[in-house]
Amino acid sequence: MSRKQYNKDDRYADMSEEEREYLLARRRRRKQRELRRRIITLDIALAAVLGVVGVASIITRSTNAKAENPGSGIDITYENEKGSSSASSEGTDGGAAVESNEAASTTENTAAGSADRSSTTSEVASEVPVTTDLNDGEALKAASDRLSFIENSSQYKELVKNGYPMIPDTVSDSYTCLVTRKFRLPSDYIPADLTVPDVAFSFNYVADKRKMRELPAAKMAEMFNAASTEGVELIAVSGYRSYKRQTEIYMKNVSNVGADEADSVSAQPGGSEHQSGLTMDLSAESAKCDLTQAFGDTREGKWLADNCYKYGFIIRYPKGKEKITGYEYEPWHIRYVGEALATYLHDNNLCLDEYYGITAEDE
Ligand code: DAL
Ligand code: ZN
Repeated sequence: MSRKQYNKDDRYADMSEEEREYLLARRRRRKQRELRRRIITLDIALAAVLGVVGVASIITRSTNAKAENPGSGIDITYENEKGSSSASSEGTDGGAAVESNEAASTTENTAAGSADRSSTTSEVASEVPVTTDLNDGEALKAASDRLSFIENSSQYKELVKNGYPMIPDTVSDSYTCLVTRKFRLPSDYIPADLTVPDVAFSFNYVADKRKMRELPAAKMAEMFNAASTEGVELIAVSGYRSYKRQTEIYMKNVSNVGADEADSVSAQPGGSEHQSGLTMDLSAESAKCDLTQAFGDTREGKWLADNCYKYGFIIRYPKGKEKITGYEYEPWHIRYVGEALATYLHDNNLCLDEYYGITAEDE
């Protein structure tokens, strides 16, 4: 028989009835197995598709829920720090050199980049009114309302009473916002109510670094006047910085002293309170208007440490808390948090990170 004439059923021609039956039955069983295999494969594929659709739907629902509840106030960012290409600082002893560059920076721009925070919810803050637009006085009032809402909340008081750490406030416009390496401000965040406080500055040119948000600016002027009546003359050195400006400063520090040292004195972009408009670096003639730790030993530095809480400010990076804040002692860097919180932190010898149950080692 030639190959051409071969018919697959011919192979059964010489077989006995019994052998043929056996082979045909075996063939049927093989086909059934193949069919079952295909059905199982299809089932698995279908299950996978349904699974993906299900997960996608859960994610969508959760994203929508967050969008509908931005008032959670617990927008938290977990960023890779050390590997980042940029950072910032007003500098410790390197501060003078760093600050001298700021003369050129009279206009600040919004840096390109995406917002750095993701949202979760909290029991305490979920009903807190949130400021979304600070273009008018009403919005500023909303920010104040939010602060007093938090401070008057029974849940908040209960947490504090029981010694539980507060959940970090990371709403950029909030006066109690935590800004650290981990909890960064969005790169495009610019406070809407920046103004120049009526205080003495260490330089005489126009610059964004003169600015603060309205309420802290008013409180700062009040504090300068009170100090002055006691013969203590404070000098403002550096306030608001844009994300872009902070990037430039940090990069300069890295190139001057290396990333490790820069990171101990200088915040990376988005991680600086100077971007929040709630901070001002202060000094005095007795410290040559420099941002140095020696300022802490001057009469002005001591007065500031003892009294700034009365005006809603804290020494943000205190001596002895370096491991918690992640920064060297900065007696010059004051941060507005409101009088209630500033007094609480002062009276309990807490830095802001401790209050929120955060340490730099977690970051
Ligand atoms: N020196 C502080 C940490 C800053 O750069 O914001
Ligand atoms: Zn500072």
